[in-house]
Amino acid sequence: MAKAHQIVLSTSTWGIRNTFQSLIAILTTILVVSAIYVAQEGGQWSQKSSTYAESIISKCNLFNGKWVFDNNSYPLYKEKHCTYMSDQLACEKFGRKDLSYQNWKWKPHQCDLPRFNATALLERLRNKRLVFVGDSLNRGQWVSMVCLVESSLPPTLKSMRTIANGSLSIFKAKEYNATIEFYWAPLLVESNSDDPVNHKVPDRTVRINAIEKHARYWTDADILVFNTFLWWRRRAMNVLWGSFGDPDGIKKRIEMVRVYEMALKTWSDWVEIHVNRSKTRLFFVTMSPTHQRAHEWGGVRGNNCYKETDLITKEGYWGNGSVPKMMRVVENVLEDLKGRGLNVQMLNITQLSEYRKEGHPSIYRKQWEALTEEEISNPKTYADCIHWCLPGVPDTWNELLYAYYFYG
Ligand SMILES: *[C@@H]1O[C@H](CO)[C@@H](O)[C@H](O)[C@H]1NC(C)=O
Ligand SMILES: *[C@@H]1O[C@H](CO)[C@@H](O)[C@H](O)[C@H]1NC(C)=O
Ligand SMILES: *[C@@H]1O[C@H](CO)[C@@H](O)[C@H](O)[C@H]1NC(C)=O
Ligand SMILES: *[C@@H]1O[C@H](CO)[C@@H](O)[C@H](O)[C@H]1NC(C)=O
Ligand SMILES: *[C@@H]1O[C@H](CO)[C@@H](O)[C@H](O)[C@H]1NC(C)=O
Ligand SMILES: *[C@@H]1O[C@H](CO)[C@@H](O)[C@H](O)[C@H]1NC(C)=O
Ligand SMILES: *[C@@H]1O[C@H](CO)[C@@H](O)[C@H](O)[C@H]1NC(C)=O
Repeated sequence: MAKAHQIVLSTSTWGIRNTFQSLIAILTTILVVSAIYVAQEGGQWSQKSSTYAESIISKCNLFNGKWVFDNNSYPLYKEKHCTYMSDQLACEKFGRKDLSYQNWKWKPHQCDLPRFNATALLERLRNKRLVFVGDSLNRGQWVSMVCLVESSLPPTLKSMRTIANGSLSIFKAKEYNATIEFYWAPLLVESNSDDPVNHKVPDRTVRINAIEKHARYWTDADILVFNTFLWWRRRAMNVLWGSFGDPDGIKKRIEMVRVYEMALKTWSDWVEIHVNRSKTRLFFVTMSPTHQRAHEWGGVRGNNCYKETDLITKEGYWGNGSVPKMMRVVENVLEDLKGRGLNVQMLNITQLSEYRKEGHPSIYRKQWEALTEEEISNPKTYADCIHWCLPGVPDTWNELLYAYYFYG
């Protein structure tokens, strides 16, 4: 109302020297202007903060809660019904017998998550691009999102293709002209691990100032969901100023958290310059925890997530693989962006995922290389305690994304 008030003040001094009629005219204008103003405000208000939105987003910390067993509503889709399921995450298909990992619902302490509605999401995504950018954990979340929406669509109305040498995968809901995409950039900035298939390199090098080669694929996205963590989990990294193969490039070995900070600075500068604030919604997914050392949760030293079927119940449990220092870096970068007028919603999934030591594929996934005799005789040596089975934990990350997309 401040604006309308100002207009009234300035016109009242004005009005003294004017005829009665023009005063009436001015007053009418003021009334119309302020009515439009109030209507707009009211419109925004009812759109953005219905009572439900108020109760879930501002009065409730969605990341603070517990897992509740609910085999009536969960899983939200069936593994074998998802056309685009990944063999890396299809635990049931690869022999897992205990399936309760599919039945857990995340229950924030102060509220309930909104119900995921695929049709409502697709309608919201009409003529839009939702792009996940990051590493294999982010790819898992993308597969989950595709599975969550695709079952409502007949085969002729959906498609999947891969471009940019496999770096960009695009799921399309044709009737909606909506895409849900994944772009492989495990360190966000350029690195020698950017090949979406052959990225296992003995020594990792990052081109710390270079992101454009990746970013040009997602410049005009409507919703961007970033992550980057796992590929940084080492003491130090090689940092390159210059191009790969350029003899004049400068290379230095730098302590990892410092390099992480530099990379996120490059990312945030890109975001600030290229993202259209009135169009694009931004999200950053925090560290996905791993369960590679059973003694951390009171299990037998030397064991890992292999054969785990229960959740960790200790409230606030935090594994050694999740690095608080790196979370602080992300928090600071997002805080800094906010100061520059850009709102990036953090999806703080670390704590809730920490409890899910049974949620990983373990040995129940496709093995890309033949197993050795030794591995076969001791399965825990090849258990995957990093990624997540689907349906499973990443579905919850997407329910959180959904909650913020609709009500945040
Ligand atoms: C759900 O779980 C309960 C308790 O474990 C079990 O008795 C019931 O059969 C399950 N229902 C379904 C539909 O799986
Ligand atoms: C899901 O959303 C669609 C479109 O907004 C709506 O028609 C439908 O009633 C919703 N379904 C449920 C179960 O809420
Ligand atoms: C389809 O969506 C894209 C954005 O993903 C948009 O650029 C294009 O204009 C849309 N097409 C139509 C026919 O609306
Ligand atoms: C695909 O890879 C080839 C060979 O590495 C490269 O020359 C080409 O520029 C790449 N194309 C794209 C679109 O990245
Ligand atoms: C930003 O997005 C808005 C809403 O889609 C659009 O009207 C505007 O033209 C865009 N601005 C630029 C600079 O592209
Ligand atoms: C985490 O693990 C490393 C290596 O095993 C160890 O040096 C460190 O003390 C552990 N930290 C905590 C908090 O347990
Ligand atoms: C994210 O969650 C962790 C653990 O619950 C907490 O320590 C941290 O402060 C949270 N960060 C934000 C920005 O809410």
